[in-house]
Amino acid sequence: MLKGRDLLEPMDFTTDELMELFKLADKIIENPENYSEACKGKLLATLFYEPSTRTRFSFEAAMLRLGGNVIGFSEANVSSVAKGESISDTIRTVACYVDMAVMRHPKEGAPIVAAACTDMPIINAGDGGHHHPTQTLTDLFTIWKEKGGFDNMTVGFCGDLKFGRTVHSLIKALSRYENVSFILISPEELVIPDYVRKEILIKEKIHFKEVENMQEALPILDILYMTRVQRERFFNEEDYVRLKDRYILDGAKMKLAKDDMMVLHPLPRVNEISVEVDEDPRALYFKQAKNGMFIRMALILSLLGIETQNETQEV
Ligand code: NCD
Repeated sequence: MLKGRDLLEPMDFTTDELMELFKLADKIIENPENYSEACKGKLLATLFYEPSTRTRFSFEAAMLRLGGNVIGFSEANVSSVAKGESISDTIRTVACYVDMAVMRHPKEGAPIVAAACTDMPIINAGDGGHHHPTQTLTDLFTIWKEKGGFDNMTVGFCGDLKFGRTVHSLIKALSRYENVSFILISPEELVIPDYVRKEILIKEKIHFKEVENMQEALPILDILYMTRVQRERFFNEEDYVRLKDRYILDGAKMKLAKDDMMVLHPLPRVNEISVEVDEDPRALYFKQAKNGMFIRMALILSLLGIETQNETQEV
Protein backbone atom coordinates (compact mmCIF):
# COMPACT_ATOMS: atom_id res chain seq x y z
CA MET A 1 0.00 0.00 0.00
CA LEU A 2 1.66 3.21 -1.13
CA LYS A 3 -0.97 5.65 0.15
CA GLY A 4 0.54 8.59 2.04
CA ARG A 5 4.13 7.45 1.47
CA ASP A 6 7.06 9.44 0.07
CA LEU A 7 9.38 8.45 -2.76
CA LEU A 8 12.81 9.73 -1.78
CA GLU A 9 15.21 6.98 -2.75
CA PRO A 10 15.05 4.20 -5.36
CA MET A 11 14.70 1.46 -2.72
CA ASP A 12 11.75 3.04 -0.91
CA PHE A 13 9.36 0.63 -2.64
CA THR A 14 9.64 -3.15 -2.59
CA THR A 15 9.92 -5.05 -5.87
CA ASP A 16 6.29 -6.17 -5.40
CA GLU A 17 5.17 -2.57 -4.95
CA LEU A 18 7.07 -1.63 -8.09
CA MET A 19 5.32 -4.39 -10.00
CA GLU A 20 1.93 -3.04 -8.87
CA LEU A 21 2.93 0.37 -10.20
CA PHE A 22 4.05 -1.05 -13.56
CA LYS A 23 0.76 -2.92 -13.95
CA LEU A 24 -1.24 0.16 -13.08
CA ALA A 25 0.78 2.27 -15.56
CA ASP A 26 0.08 -0.35 -18.21
CA LYS A 27 -3.65 -0.18 -17.52
CA ILE A 28 -3.52 3.60 -17.83
CA ILE A 29 -1.79 3.27 -21.21
CA GLU A 30 -4.50 0.87 -22.38
CA ASN A 31 -7.47 2.92 -21.18
CA PRO A 32 -6.45 6.48 -20.36
CA GLU A 33 -10.09 7.64 -20.40
CA ASN A 34 -10.80 5.56 -17.29
CA TYR A 35 -8.41 7.74 -15.34
CA SER A 36 -9.08 11.18 -16.79
CA GLU A 37 -11.02 12.39 -13.75
CA ALA A 38 -9.40 10.25 -11.07
CA CYS A 39 -7.60 13.19 -9.42
CA LYS A 40 -10.39 15.74 -9.75
CA GLY A 41 -10.07 18.31 -6.95
CA LYS A 42 -6.50 17.27 -6.13
CA LEU A 43 -3.56 19.64 -6.32
CA LEU A 44 0.10 18.81 -6.96
CA ALA A 45 2.94 21.27 -6.27
CA THR A 46 6.07 21.13 -8.43
CA LEU A 47 8.95 22.72 -6.52
CA PHE A 48 11.86 22.85 -8.94
CA TYR A 49 14.94 24.57 -7.52
CA GLU A 50 16.93 23.30 -10.55
CA PRO A 51 16.04 23.27 -14.27
CA SER A 52 14.09 20.40 -15.80
CA THR A 53 12.04 19.73 -18.89
CA ARG A 54 11.00 16.09 -18.88
CA THR A 55 10.63 15.50 -15.20
CA ARG A 56 8.59 18.63 -14.50
CA PHE A 57 6.50 18.45 -17.66
CA SER A 58 5.85 14.75 -17.24
CA PHE A 59 4.64 15.26 -13.67
CA GLU A 60 2.49 18.21 -14.71
CA ALA A 61 1.10 16.35 -17.72
CA ALA A 62 0.50 13.29 -15.53
CA MET A 63 -1.52 15.24 -12.96
CA LEU A 64 -3.46 17.16 -15.61
CA ARG A 65 -4.27 13.95 -17.49
CA LEU A 66 -5.63 12.54 -14.24
CA GLY A 67 -7.98 15.52 -13.97
CA GLY A 68 -6.07 17.19 -11.14
CA ASN A 69 -4.31 20.55 -11.04
CA VAL A 70 -0.74 21.74 -10.63
CA ILE A 71 0.91 24.79 -9.10
CA GLY A 72 4.62 25.42 -8.61
CA PHE A 73 7.82 27.11 -9.63
CA SER A 74 10.51 26.10 -12.06
CA GLU A 75 13.39 28.17 -10.69
CA ALA A 76 14.11 29.04 -7.10
CA ASN A 77 14.62 32.75 -7.82
CA VAL A 78 10.95 33.30 -8.59
CA SER A 79 9.80 32.00 -5.19
CA SER A 80 10.38 33.14 -1.60
CA VAL A 81 13.49 30.99 -1.62
CA ALA A 82 15.13 34.04 -3.20
CA LYS A 83 14.28 35.92 0.03
CA GLY A 84 16.08 33.29 2.07
CA GLU A 85 13.20 31.03 3.10
CA SER A 86 14.23 27.59 4.36
CA ILE A 87 13.09 24.34 2.74
CA SER A 88 11.13 23.41 5.83
CA ASP A 89 9.19 26.72 5.92
CA THR A 90 8.45 26.50 2.19
CA ILE A 91 7.17 22.93 2.57
CA ARG A 92 5.08 23.64 5.65
CA THR A 93 3.44 26.50 3.79
CA VAL A 94 2.93 24.58 0.54
CA ALA A 95 1.41 21.70 2.52
CA CYS A 96 -1.39 24.07 3.59
CA TYR A 97 -2.48 24.33 -0.04
CA VAL A 98 -1.78 21.09 -1.90
CA ASP A 99 -2.14 17.30 -1.59
CA MET A 100 1.37 16.28 -2.61
CA ALA A 101 4.63 17.84 -3.81
CA VAL A 102 7.40 16.96 -6.22
CA MET A 103 10.79 18.49 -5.45
CA ARG A 104 14.01 18.86 -7.41
CA HIS A 105 16.93 20.42 -5.57
CA PRO A 106 20.67 20.88 -6.22
CA LYS A 107 21.51 19.75 -2.68
CA GLU A 108 21.73 16.06 -1.86
CA GLY A 109 19.15 15.09 0.74
CA ALA A 110 16.92 18.19 0.38
CA PRO A 111 13.76 16.11 -0.31
CA ILE A 112 14.45 14.08 2.85
CA VAL A 113 14.42 17.34 4.84
CA ALA A 114 11.18 18.30 3.08
CA ALA A 115 9.50 14.97 3.84
CA ALA A 116 10.39 15.28 7.52
CA CYS A 117 8.32 18.48 7.85
CA THR A 118 5.03 17.28 6.44
CA ASP A 119 2.64 14.34 6.24
CA MET A 120 1.77 14.90 2.60
CA PRO A 121 3.63 12.71 0.09
CA ILE A 122 6.93 14.15 -1.14
CA ILE A 123 8.51 12.88 -4.34
CA ASN A 124 12.21 13.39 -5.00
CA ALA A 125 12.59 14.54 -8.60
CA GLY A 126 16.39 14.63 -8.36
CA ASP A 127 18.63 15.81 -5.51
CA GLY A 128 22.05 17.02 -6.68
CA GLY A 129 24.27 14.18 -7.87
CA HIS A 130 22.54 11.76 -5.50
CA HIS A 131 19.31 10.09 -6.61
CA HIS A 132 16.47 10.41 -9.11
CA PRO A 133 13.95 7.71 -8.16
CA THR A 134 11.17 8.64 -10.58
CA GLN A 135 13.62 8.44 -13.49
CA THR A 136 14.42 4.98 -12.12
CA LEU A 137 10.72 4.07 -12.18
CA THR A 138 10.67 5.24 -15.80
CA ASP A 139 13.78 3.22 -16.66
CA LEU A 140 12.56 0.07 -14.91
CA PHE A 141 9.09 0.35 -16.43
CA THR A 142 10.64 0.66 -19.91
CA ILE A 143 12.90 -2.35 -19.35
CA TRP A 144 9.98 -4.38 -17.97
CA LYS A 145 7.80 -3.52 -20.96
CA GLU A 146 10.49 -4.36 -23.50
CA LYS A 147 12.21 -7.33 -21.86
CA GLY A 148 9.47 -8.64 -19.57
CA GLY A 149 11.67 -8.65 -16.46
CA PHE A 150 15.08 -7.79 -15.02
CA ASP A 151 16.86 -11.04 -14.19
CA ASN A 152 20.04 -12.20 -15.96
CA MET A 153 20.70 -8.88 -17.70
CA THR A 154 24.06 -7.37 -18.55
CA VAL A 155 23.62 -3.64 -18.27
CA GLY A 156 26.17 -1.09 -19.49
CA PHE A 157 26.24 2.43 -18.08
CA CYS A 158 28.25 4.88 -20.14
CA GLY A 159 29.35 8.49 -19.63
CA ASP A 160 29.30 10.52 -16.46
CA LEU A 161 28.92 7.86 -13.81
CA LYS A 162 30.28 10.16 -11.13
CA PHE A 163 27.68 12.92 -11.20
CA GLY A 164 24.86 11.11 -13.03
CA ARG A 165 22.20 10.62 -10.36
CA THR A 166 20.03 8.53 -12.67
CA VAL A 167 22.90 6.05 -12.89
CA HIS A 168 23.30 5.79 -9.11
CA SER A 169 19.58 5.22 -8.65
CA LEU A 170 19.21 2.65 -11.43
CA ILE A 171 22.26 0.65 -10.31
CA LYS A 172 20.79 0.52 -6.83
CA ALA A 173 17.37 -0.54 -8.07
CA LEU A 174 18.65 -3.20 -10.51
CA SER A 175 20.92 -4.71 -7.87
CA ARG A 176 17.85 -6.27 -6.26
CA TYR A 177 17.19 -8.59 -9.19
CA GLU A 178 18.75 -12.00 -9.87
CA ASN A 179 22.02 -12.31 -11.72
CA VAL A 180 22.23 -8.75 -13.05
CA SER A 181 25.73 -7.64 -14.00
CA PHE A 182 27.05 -4.20 -14.81
CA ILE A 183 29.69 -2.90 -17.17
CA LEU A 184 30.56 0.63 -16.08
CA ILE A 185 32.06 2.56 -18.99
CA SER A 186 33.63 5.93 -18.15
CA PRO A 187 36.84 7.89 -18.19
CA GLU A 188 38.83 7.56 -14.97
CA GLU A 189 37.73 11.03 -13.83
CA LEU A 190 34.04 10.10 -14.02
CA VAL A 191 33.88 6.68 -12.41
CA ILE A 192 31.00 5.83 -10.05
CA PRO A 193 31.24 7.29 -6.55
CA ASP A 194 32.74 5.16 -3.84
CA TYR A 195 29.46 4.79 -1.99
CA VAL A 196 27.89 3.09 -5.03
CA ARG A 197 30.89 0.82 -5.52
CA LYS A 198 31.32 -0.14 -1.86
CA GLU A 199 27.87 0.08 -0.32
CA ILE A 200 25.95 -1.41 -3.22
CA LEU A 201 28.07 -3.35 -5.69
CA ILE A 202 30.72 -4.86 -3.42
CA LYS A 203 28.45 -5.26 -0.39
CA GLU A 204 25.71 -6.99 -2.38
CA LYS A 205 28.27 -9.07 -4.31
CA ILE A 206 27.04 -7.83 -7.66
CA HIS A 207 29.10 -8.76 -10.68
CA PHE A 208 30.55 -5.56 -12.21
CA LYS A 209 33.46 -4.36 -14.29
CA GLU A 210 34.78 -0.83 -14.76
CA VAL A 211 36.17 -0.15 -18.24
CA GLU A 212 37.10 2.83 -20.41
CA ASN A 213 36.47 1.33 -23.82
CA MET A 214 32.90 1.35 -25.09
CA GLN A 215 33.47 -0.80 -28.19
CA GLU A 216 34.83 -3.64 -26.10
CA ALA A 217 31.70 -3.74 -23.94
CA LEU A 218 29.04 -3.28 -26.63
CA PRO A 219 28.77 -6.86 -27.98
CA ILE A 220 27.77 -8.35 -24.63
CA LEU A 221 25.24 -5.79 -23.42
CA ASP A 222 21.48 -6.36 -23.14
CA ILE A 223 20.95 -2.72 -22.19
CA LEU A 224 23.11 0.33 -22.81
CA TYR A 225 22.28 3.31 -20.58
CA MET A 226 23.93 6.42 -22.04
CA THR A 227 24.32 9.63 -20.04
CA ARG A 228 25.50 13.16 -20.76
CA VAL A 229 28.48 14.67 -18.96
CA GLN A 230 26.86 16.77 -16.19
CA ARG A 231 28.35 20.18 -16.96
CA GLU A 232 26.60 21.95 -14.05
CA ARG A 233 28.31 19.74 -11.47
CA PHE A 234 31.86 20.35 -12.69
CA PHE A 235 34.16 22.63 -10.77
CA ASN A 236 35.89 23.93 -13.89
CA GLU A 237 34.91 24.31 -17.53
CA GLU A 238 38.24 22.96 -18.83
CA ASP A 239 37.59 19.50 -17.38
CA TYR A 240 34.10 19.50 -18.84
CA VAL A 241 35.34 20.43 -22.32
CA ARG A 242 38.03 17.75 -22.16
CA LEU A 243 35.56 15.01 -21.19
CA LYS A 244 32.27 15.93 -22.82
CA ASP A 245 32.72 14.16 -26.16
CA ARG A 246 34.58 11.14 -24.88
CA TYR A 247 31.81 8.72 -25.82
CA ILE A 248 29.61 9.14 -28.86
CA LEU A 249 27.29 6.31 -29.78
CA ASP A 250 26.83 6.29 -33.56
CA GLY A 251 25.59 3.94 -36.29
CA ALA A 252 28.97 2.22 -36.65
CA LYS A 253 29.14 1.38 -32.94
CA MET A 254 25.55 0.13 -32.97
CA LYS A 255 26.69 -2.51 -35.48
CA LEU A 256 28.78 -4.06 -32.69
CA ALA A 257 25.77 -4.49 -30.41
CA LYS A 258 23.23 -7.31 -30.08
CA ASP A 259 20.14 -7.11 -32.28
CA ASP A 260 17.95 -6.62 -29.23
CA MET A 261 20.17 -4.38 -27.12
CA MET A 262 18.06 -1.56 -25.67
CA VAL A 263 19.57 1.93 -25.79
CA LEU A 264 18.25 4.07 -22.95
CA HIS A 265 19.08 7.66 -22.00
CA PRO A 266 17.35 9.76 -19.34
CA LEU A 267 17.71 12.80 -21.64
CA PRO A 268 18.60 15.60 -22.24
CA ARG A 269 21.10 14.35 -24.80
CA VAL A 270 23.99 16.58 -25.79
CA ASN A 271 26.44 14.84 -28.17
CA GLU A 272 26.70 11.37 -26.68
CA ILE A 273 24.22 9.74 -29.06
CA SER A 274 24.36 10.90 -32.66
CA VAL A 275 20.95 11.60 -34.15
CA GLU A 276 21.38 8.85 -36.77
CA VAL A 277 20.88 6.32 -33.96
CA ASP A 278 17.36 7.70 -33.32
CA GLU A 279 16.07 5.71 -36.31
CA ASP A 280 17.46 2.42 -34.99
CA PRO A 281 14.63 0.35 -33.46
CA ARG A 282 16.89 -0.36 -30.48
CA ALA A 283 16.92 3.36 -29.59
CA LEU A 284 14.22 3.61 -26.95
CA TYR A 285 14.92 6.92 -25.23
CA PHE A 286 11.92 8.81 -26.56
CA LYS A 287 9.65 5.90 -25.76
CA GLN A 288 11.24 5.91 -22.32
CA ALA A 289 10.37 9.61 -21.91
CA LYS A 290 6.76 8.85 -22.82
CA ASN A 291 6.63 5.92 -20.39
CA GLY A 292 7.79 8.39 -17.74
CA MET A 293 4.48 10.21 -17.84
CA PHE A 294 2.43 7.03 -17.43
CA ILE A 295 4.47 5.67 -14.56
CA ARG A 296 4.17 9.07 -12.85
CA MET A 297 0.40 8.91 -13.30
CA ALA A 298 0.45 5.52 -11.56
CA LEU A 299 2.67 6.94 -8.82
CA ILE A 300 0.42 9.94 -8.17
CA LEU A 301 -2.69 7.74 -7.97
CA SER A 302 -0.98 5.31 -5.61
CA LEU A 303 0.50 7.88 -3.23
CA LEU A 304 -2.84 9.66 -3.04
CA GLY A 305 -4.54 6.31 -2.43
CA ILE A 306 -6.99 6.86 -5.26
CA GLU A 307 -8.66 3.75 -6.57
CA THR A 308 -10.57 4.24 -9.76
CA GLN A 309 -13.84 2.46 -10.53
CA ASN A 310 -11.73 0.31 -12.79
CA GLU A 311 -9.51 -1.03 -9.99
CA THR A 312 -12.24 -1.47 -7.40
CA GLN A 313 -14.39 -3.54 -9.73
CA GLU A 314 -11.52 -5.93 -10.36
CA VAL A 315 -10.66 -6.51 -6.70
C1 NCD B 1 18.36 13.61 -15.75
C2 NCD B 1 18.56 14.38 -14.47
O1 NCD B 1 17.97 15.44 -14.27
O2 NCD B 1 19.35 13.90 -13.65
N1 NCD B 1 17.34 14.14 -16.55
C3 NCD B 1 16.06 13.76 -16.35
O3 NCD B 1 15.51 13.93 -15.29
N2 NCD B 1 15.43 13.14 -17.35
C4 NCD B 1 19.60 13.40 -16.50
C5 NCD B 1 20.42 14.60 -16.87
O4 NCD B 1 20.09 15.74 -16.56
O5 NCD B 1 21.41 14.37 -17.54
